[in-house]
Amino acid sequence: MYVCVCHAVTDRDIAQAVADGASSMRDLRERTGVAGTCGRCAQCAHACLKEASAAKAKTITLFRTEPNLSVA
Ligand code: FES
Repeated sequence: MYVCVCHAVTDRDIAQAVADGASSMRDLRERTGVAGTCGRCAQCAHACLKEASAAKAKTITLFRTEPNLSVA
């Protein structure tokens, strides 16, 4: 879905920006332009940022390897 009409930014664009390292609204604005003109999309963009960040953290946790607990 379109989040920012002014810059044609979708929720997928935001998820990709988060996957590429964006972690704040400033990062998103610099990468996509979201909320950089009228600002009406800021609240929705922030919600998408939080959702994408949570999904990214969950994915990282799922793929994290178990620590080596062997004793020499
Ligand atoms: S709708 Fe995003 S800056 Fe206007």
